[in-house]
Amino acid sequence: MACHKARMHGPVPHFRKAPSVSDLQPTSRHTLPTRLIHAGLALSIITQLATSLVMRAPHGTSPGNLLFEVHEYSGYAALGFAALFWLLLLFRSKGTSLGSLIPWFSANRRAALIEDTKAHLASARHLTFPDMDNHRPMASAIHGLGLLLMTLMATTGAASVLFPGVREQVLGVHVLFANVVWAYLIGHAGLALLAHWTRHLDLREMWRLVK
Ligand code: HEM
Ligand code: HEM
Repeated sequence: MACHKARMHGPVPHFRKAPSVSDLQPTSRHTLPTRLIHAGLALSIITQLATSLVMRAPHGTSPGNLLFEVHEYSGYAALGFAALFWLLLLFRSKGTSLGSLIPWFSANRRAALIEDTKAHLASARHLTFPDMDNHRPMASAIHGLGLLLMTLMATTGAASVLFPGVREQVLGVHVLFANVVWAYLIGHAGLALLAHWTRHLDLREMWRLVK
């Protein structure tokens, strides 16, 4: 069939053989370990938020209910995934660099972030996104803040159980930042879906969970 087409429309330079399924899948800028850890973290955070709406946390002598146990144990899972994400950032050779996710300590990176934020605002006025391949600093800086936020939530949650002496203080911080987690999830997932539908990024680049 391919040869037939070639005879009718001239030579086809790119394919010597019919493309396989893997040829047709998008090349991902995120490696498989990044995609698996991201999915684990995202799913455990969604579980945290859902359980937080209906659980009964332990207070005084009254124990927490089963949904609180789900909140507690998926919180430990979130802590594990966040720790794996940080380890991966230190050791991976492909993907967003640690400096792009945490740009705050470099003057050059801060300048690039300001320029990129201006480009995003200019595009937003026309209800679109700038080219996602060249415009990474703002998205990456926000992703880094998201990862820091989830690390803070998981460590304060875990500390409230492991160190009863500081329970009140750490839970104060936990509850204070809880709404920011909702805002991050809605903003980050909402923008990712919007960018996918407007063909500025392909969700499978982050959510394809096979090689
Ligand atoms: C609250 C849970 C989540 C957290 C903490 C989180 C965190 C992150 C982080 C840290 C990155 C950057 C990864 C890197 O560059 O190496 C990222 C990228 C990404 N996330 Fe999430 N994420 C969450 C939920 C979601 C959800 C629910 C979606 C799906 C709608 C999603 C879609 C994406 C996509 C598509 C990218 C890649 C963006 C790009 O390549 O520019 N995330 N996320
Ligand atoms: C990234 C992980 C976590 C997220 C995103 C998260 C999120 C939340 C949210 C949204 C609330 C409701 C706050 C409110 O009432 O306004 C909450 C409450 C709570 N969480 Fe977590 N949580 C996490 C991990 C944990 C862990 C590991 C524990 C340890 C057991 C924990 C223990 C608690 C407790 C005790 C409360 C009730 C606080 C109170 O009402 O006094 N959380 N969490």
